[in-house]
Amino acid sequence: MKYIRLFIFLLFAVAVMSCNRSKDNPGYDYAGKYDMYYTKFYKAYSPNPVFRNGITNQLPPEGAVARGKTPFPYPGSNVAEKAANQAKAGLELKNPVPVTDEALANGKEHFRIFCSDCHGIDGKGDGHLYTSGLFPAKPTSLVDAYVQNKPDGEIFYVMTYGSISGLMGAHGSQILPEDRWCIVHYLRELAK
Ligand code: HEC
Repeated sequence: MKYIRLFIFLLFAVAVMSCNRSKDNPGYDYAGKYDMYYTKFYKAYSPNPVFRNGITNQLPPEGAVARGKTPFPYPGSNVAEKAANQAKAGLELKNPVPVTDEALANGKEHFRIFCSDCHGIDGKGDGHLYTSGLFPAKPTSLVDAYVQNKPDGEIFYVMTYGSISGLMGAHGSQILPEDRWCIVHYLRELAK
């Protein structure tokens, strides 16, 4: 009997201790003050006392490559960069996509959507945007020797950043790299 009373008293005491007026307060908890249950964290844009520069959202280390991205170390945001890198990309890059019926069909579809309005469905430089007079600059024929003699990487580069003069705009943000390589395969096929 004595023990039962003691037990009930203890139960009551524990219940009271674990309650708190404020709903946001977890009440008494033993391990909490040692950061065992409640880890400290900082939001992306909050100041951070742990890092020397005081920033939570650290930049990735130089040269880090995001998942699923292939490095493309050939900048082309202005005329000088394009002039310097177009030929270089041509010499150093290899088309990573194997020539398959699937790749050619994919290249054909992307060519139709992104290139044929200017360069024409046969790639001769006679797309309706040019023939109708809506687009003033003559698009280069993609099936003649001038473009066909360029290595794959150079054509890929032109698609990525546009032509050196800027008359043809960049398509790098609209066409995925793999689809750009498929277009290159398709252009070889188109020229046959
Ligand atoms: C808005 C019209 C337009 C579109 C769309 C377009 N081009 Fe062009 N392209 C041009 C013009 C104009 C030129 C000539 C530009 C120059 O001489 O600077 C050109 C030039 C080129 C050249 C030759 C670049 C060089 O080094 O002389 C290639 C290769 C090329 N285009 C490929 C493509 C491919 C592939 C696509 C589709 C992804 C495409 N173009 C989409 C207008 C376009």
